[in-house]
Amino acid sequence: MIYPLIPKPQKITTGDTVVFTLTKYCEIIGEDKFPKAVGSLKKFLSESFSLELLGTGKEKLYLELSDEINSDEGYTLSVKENEVIIKVKTEQGVFYGIQTLKQMLMHGDLSLCSAEIEDEPAFSYRGFMLDCGRYFFTKEAVFTFLEIMALHKLNYFHWHLTEDQGWRFYSEKYPLLTEIGSYRSHTNFNSVPHSGYYTKEDMKEVVEYAHSLYIKVIPEIDTPGHTVSAIAAYPFLSCFDRNMVTATKWGVKYDVLCVGKESTFDFVQSVFDEVTEIFTDGIVHLGGDEVPTARWELCPHCQKRMKDEGLKETGDLHTYYLGRIGKYLRDKGMEVIMWNDRVKEYMPDSSLCWQFWNTDMDKKDMEGEIKKGRSFIISPEKSYYLDLPYGLVDLKTCYEYDPYIEGLTEENRHLLKGIEACLWAEFVPDMKKAGYCTFPRLGAISESAWTKKENKSYEDFSERLDGYYKHIKAINMNYATVKQAIPTGIRKTASKLYWERRRLCWGGLENLITNKKLEKMYGKKDKKND
Ligand code: ACM
Ligand code: ZN
Repeated sequence: MIYPLIPKPQKITTGDTVVFTLTKYCEIIGEDKFPKAVGSLKKFLSESFSLELLGTGKEKLYLELSDEINSDEGYTLSVKENEVIIKVKTEQGVFYGIQTLKQMLMHGDLSLCSAEIEDEPAFSYRGFMLDCGRYFFTKEAVFTFLEIMALHKLNYFHWHLTEDQGWRFYSEKYPLLTEIGSYRSHTNFNSVPHSGYYTKEDMKEVVEYAHSLYIKVIPEIDTPGHTVSAIAAYPFLSCFDRNMVTATKWGVKYDVLCVGKESTFDFVQSVFDEVTEIFTDGIVHLGGDEVPTARWELCPHCQKRMKDEGLKETGDLHTYYLGRIGKYLRDKGMEVIMWNDRVKEYMPDSSLCWQFWNTDMDKKDMEGEIKKGRSFIISPEKSYYLDLPYGLVDLKTCYEYDPYIEGLTEENRHLLKGIEACLWAEFVPDMKKAGYCTFPRLGAISESAWTKKENKSYEDFSERLDGYYKHIKAINMNYATVKQAIPTGIRKTASKLYWERRRLCWGGLENLITNKKLEKMYGKKDKKND
């Protein structure tokens, strides 16, 4: 039997005769030592097969700690006459062995042929990002994504909690962030209000749920750009104390946090103080992507900051800001991640980790940072952004992207912590669309995250897709068919045109008009907007 496992284990051999059938009588030996892993199996059996284990029969599932396993996340799995044996070094290993077993049981309708599997992950960081700023996803929807992550053996949930169009993190110190900033009156050209935020209790529940699945949660408070919702709540955060409303159109906004005023730093640090109380994994993402300098060019506070700090160009305020907030968080003992927009050789503190989304960046700057020892995560938009239409990022492109970028050598390979799939939500208003965008591309990315490069093959992956779809259907998620996921001809063109719709609701024109007004008021011409 060929087991259609995704991600594919590093080594697998299988026989052709059924040797094990799981019934309600199956007994689990070692259940008390590995409650989370067994809980995951029991939930699956109950939901997919309406089966509750009684545990008195001759079929046994052995869960064992073993010195033979070297990797914390690794496991071996053997299927023999009436027994399945999973051996591990840690409980997390059992958890991944169980995820594999779930896929095997789904494929064989609870009957298994003999098999020998040896497995461990290629990367220690296997991430998934959900944008809850553009559209609010309920706590229950987040739980569903966490379950999906576990099935794909992903272990870092990057939770994008704030955007121009919606602030979702409740703060006691700054309650208007959600009272005002979580609400927008409409979206692009419709007239439907949209709102939602997470209470502290909600977020604690998400963290707890994630931990039960061996997933760490990385909250992102995206600053200094993508902050119109925060400015709508607290105008003092902007240059010129602008009165704004939560953004209603997609696109990069000129109004960002004022980096000249100390009050901005007090605000951001206080928010992160609250964030780090809830999110206990010791990792935060401070955003830092897409920051136009238009307001900073005109703002007396920002201009004074440049002078005081000896910064040469306005864009250096971006670097200054990230370095300062990054240091604040490092001093609190946090691991810090930021988007790669502002790669400069004088970026302080090489312990700040970068997430590469825009790989068109200057290679020299990047190589310099690798030499300095800065670690990074790869999530290139043209391969790992799940919201992009299949006409732009088809399944094969997604699968075949090689994260081992130029400039990496044997010595510095460890700096590449891993990869991440990102689900941005401008065009993902609900779970139906989310499923369509995510599957089967998440299967492809999870295989690049887990399966070592030498064991990957697109042809082999495509042969396992039928089995994969069976599992996706069983968890009631929508998906794209292979035809939809690899469009050709007119379908490909249509898919690209659909994406061009994005330009129609881009905030560019709106930005330009207000910029002209401000230029008039403050008598300066904006020189450059990145
Ligand atoms: C990004 O896509 N702006 C990180
Ligand atoms: Zn300013």
